Amino acid sequence: IPVYGKGKIGIIGSGLIGRSWTLIFISAGYNVTIFDIEQSQLSGALVDIEKQLAELQKSGLLRGALTPEQQRALVSVTSDMKEAITGALHIQECVPENEDLKRKVFSEMEQYADDSTVLCSSTSCIVPSKFTDHLKRRSQCIVAHPVNPPYYCPLVEIIPSPWTEPSVVSRTRTLLEGVGQVPVTVKKEIDGFALNRLQYAIINEAWRLVADGVMSAEDVDKVFTAGLGMRYAFCGPFEVIHLNAEGTASYLERYGSTIQRVSSTFGPSPTFTGPAFDTIVQDNDANYPLDKLQEIRQWRDTRLVALAKLKKDLESQ
Ligand code: NAI
Repeated sequence: IPVYGKGKIGIIGSGLIGRSWTLIFISAGYNVTIFDIEQSQLSGALVDIEKQLAELQKSGLLRGALTPEQQRALVSVTSDMKEAITGALHIQECVPENEDLKRKVFSEMEQYADDSTVLCSSTSCIVPSKFTDHLKRRSQCIVAHPVNPPYYCPLVEIIPSPWTEPSVVSRTRTLLEGVGQVPVTVKKEIDGFALNRLQYAIINEAWRLVADGVMSAEDVDKVFTAGLGMRYAFCGPFEVIHLNAEGTASYLERYGSTIQRVSSTFGPSPTFTGPAFDTIVQDNDANYPLDKLQEIRQWRDTRLVALAKLKKDLESQ
């Protein structure tokens, strides 16, 4: 399989994630052809992409060297899957999260692919062997799981199946690095990949702290927003331990037994039922009212954009 030059990318499914991938690929100068079974989704995608390009330009966050008009000119839409796939280097599948649907869509995708096409899924939690085992081109299939919103949260988890060719892994990483994302490889299939496993470990302990009457749900959130999250935006847990002592060996010598002692009190995984369910639901509904979710999401997104801008500015210093 050849390495990438700038070329064509096919997007299958033009919802939230299909549109996000499109913005990322066109920012780096790739031609993107989007396919969807719903004509209204395709026309909606074009309007949305133009609107987002204009907003990104206005906020100074547009990626790449091309103007919004030049980027827009790289996008086309089609209701013929063959047209989206023929001649493309990389296909990014973004249809709804459903194993049977992914199996069906991948069967269709491989019919139009050639030996040099990578067939990639955006799935959040289905391991690739579950929907590629039956394919002739299964060695060309892989998962690239983005984090929402992908334009500002650049992490992408790459998950090969046991039969994915190693060059498909390296090619996908190279492509994603080239468009400004941050790929990481999940070297073998595992339920939840890495991001959700780590996230669930946090949810579990957060739940236990509230269930055991140690802390309110509101204060648990503050532990992140004013504490751990401040560091984690810049340093991961391994870098944190390395910096919190004279390197990792010294940190583990000092604190290893403490981590082990505290961790042995964590208890079993919660079932997310019982009295703690009512407490956490009521506290969250009071702190973040259900009729204000849209406003709160906007508040969050403004801050994510500002953080992305800060990180970009710091990196260019
Ligand atoms: P969505 O519901 O916004 O978009 C799905 C699109 O696929 C729709 O436009 C629909 O018309 C189209 N579609 C349905 N059947 C199709 C078919 N047979 N062929 C072509 N197009 C078809 O879904 P969303 O949120 O964009 O998710 C897509 C994928 O990305 C899912 O696998 C999801 O797990 C994953 N993902 C979603 C994230 C999120 O936060 N929404 C984050 C990371 C990954």
